[in-house]
Amino acid sequence: YTAQIDASDLEKGTYPYYMLKEIDEQPAVMRNIIQRYQNAEGRLTVPEELVTAMLEADRIHIVACGTSYHSGWVGKHYLEKIAQIPTEVHVASEFSYNPPLLKGNPFFIFLTQSGETADSRQVLVKVKEWGYPALTITNVAGSTLSREADYTLLLHAGPEIAVASTKAYTAQIAVLAVLSDALGAKIGHDMGIDMVHELGIVANAMEAIIDDKERIAELADIYLPNTRNAFYIGRGLDYFVSMEAALKLKEISYIQTEGFAAGELKHGTIALIEEGTPVLAIITQADMASHTRGNIEEVRSRGANTCVFAMDGLANDNDQIILPAVHPALAPLMTVVPTQLMAYYATLHRGYDVDKPRNLAKSVTVE
Ligand code: AGP
Repeated sequence: YTAQIDASDLEKGTYPYYMLKEIDEQPAVMRNIIQRYQNAEGRLTVPEELVTAMLEADRIHIVACGTSYHSGWVGKHYLEKIAQIPTEVHVASEFSYNPPLLKGNPFFIFLTQSGETADSRQVLVKVKEWGYPALTITNVAGSTLSREADYTLLLHAGPEIAVASTKAYTAQIAVLAVLSDALGAKIGHDMGIDMVHELGIVANAMEAIIDDKERIAELADIYLPNTRNAFYIGRGLDYFVSMEAALKLKEISYIQTEGFAAGELKHGTIALIEEGTPVLAIITQADMASHTRGNIEEVRSRGANTCVFAMDGLANDNDQIILPAVHPALAPLMTVVPTQLMAYYATLHRGYDVDKPRNLAKSVTVE
């Protein structure tokens, strides 16, 4: 598959910023992934030789940076729960200084939108010297990390121009779900869902949120206009989305934001909560919802200005955003969208350049 990029992909068209265009493209990217990964039987899968190679692994190491590192945590959840392979997630630049103990048959996955990130490539070079198998999941066919890995899975997301990564994050998670489900199917432990149908529901849910973006703009104006800091909190998959939500907000609006495990706040960080501190909470996992609500009360009683994003069925009347229901395992695909829009509008309200934040480059090709 060679990426068919036509000129329109590289134009903003009627959009004020590429980031908004790329947020809006996410439903179409989901549908593109459904199409590209569907086999003759209508099932989403990956090449057989990749399934075989990965099922020989006794440990998977995911290596990435930034947003791709955050999608790696969702990937770990899928690979362990479905494919039942122990999985670790590594910041690429840290891996070089303290590589994990590599015994048995490790398998490496490199998550990288650009396929050119130097920190990630340094690790891939070592992995190939060590003689271990590697898969690169990337948006750029023919990129360095794709060429130098043994296997490649493409994101089919179309060019991502804005420095702040959005559609690449959701595309990575969708491809990781398809990969994990394909591995699981081989060992009789797949996700037990109709992935085509469920990803279609995710695409529709994304659309509903995108169509209601003015509501998010209002929330950004209520919760974020003058703040110097903010928190996203959640548990499990909602915590992993909180990590990404925090990066989105801080890298373009420059609001110091932490994505934090809701249950961990009381072990010190809650000391930072003061009158008016914005705390945005994500609730999509039924088995953790009541605990996260307890954490919301903990911070609210200390003065936090809480904003709750809860999935339909887990929401209550005073939640700020009720999110369309999707399969809980695929919830990160949907819940990240309002957080991307929160970052976009908070930045607009501050008058900063959404697509070109200070100090940042789209692809970090230096160490
Ligand atoms: C994300 O919004 C940032 N632009 C940045 O963290 C990025 O995700 C990181 O540099 C990794 O890039 P890659 O996915 O192209 O390797």
